Amino acid sequence: MKHPTLALTGIVKRFGDATILDGLQLELPLSGITFIVGQSGSGKSVLCRLAVGLLKPDAGEVRLFGERVDRLPERRLSALRARAPYLVQGPALLDWLSLLDNVALADPPSRRDGRAAQALDGLGLSAFAHRRPPEVGPGIRKRAAIARALVLRPEALLLDEPTTGLDREAAGQVNDALDRVRAQGVAVVLVSHDYPALAQLADRVVEVKAGVIGYLGDARGFSEMMQPGRGRHGREPS
Ligand SMILES: Nc1ncnc2c1ncn2[C@@H]1O[C@H](COP(=O)(O)OP(=O)(O)OP(=O)(O)O)[C@@H](O)[C@H]1O
Ligand SMILES: [Mg+2]
Repeated sequence: MKHPTLALTGIVKRFGDATILDGLQLELPLSGITFIVGQSGSGKSVLCRLAVGLLKPDAGEVRLFGERVDRLPERRLSALRARAPYLVQGPALLDWLSLLDNVALADPPSRRDGRAAQALDGLGLSAFAHRRPPEVGPGIRKRAAIARALVLRPEALLLDEPTTGLDREAAGQVNDALDRVRAQGVAVVLVSHDYPALAQLADRVVEVKAGVIGYLGDARGFSEMMQPGRGRHGREPS
């Protein structure tokens, strides 16, 4: 079976005089877990925002599930974002609502037909359903935000640095949730600097480098390339 894809062709993105993406090409199968890596400021978040139409490229084409994201009117973009929600960095829940009610915010009928509870259960959060965000730890909060993104039964999930700023335990809880999301058949694309998690979870790695894709392949190949004395880091600068 051919997987749906996120395809970017000839993408140029500038802000003022700065060219952030410079002819970037990427055809990413939406299956399993994909890590997007790259230096700070390389354009990883810009890439995510282009993928769901929150930003428009200066040149090039963006296709998600075969749809021309860069040309879709806002109404159709909302429908597309329900198929591939994008979770930005930082807090995402309302502190005064229970986790269950927070999840149901994404789709109020899901509160009545039990899908919001199922989404929490699917990420191992049933015991926390009636707690409010300040009453649980940051890893559980992030997991609940992921559950909320799952309530509309998307095909893919985009996450921007879901573990940045979390301690190892909380990050572990989030990474475990990603594994569960994958097991539910939802593709995960995440921006992350968590290299131990990458080695453990990534089905593929995309590196954004100098405005283009520096690497697209499996985690092992990426780790080998990054090892001192081998691959890119072992070469003298030319
Ligand atoms: N709306 C904007 N206006 C102007 N410049 C922007 C805007 N969004 C991003 N940039 C610039 O584009 C570059 C890439 O930004 P981006 O946020 O994609 O980086 P990143 O790879 O996600 O970095 P980080 O790892 O720090 O999150 C940065 O230099 C940033 O300052
Ligand atoms: Mg970023």
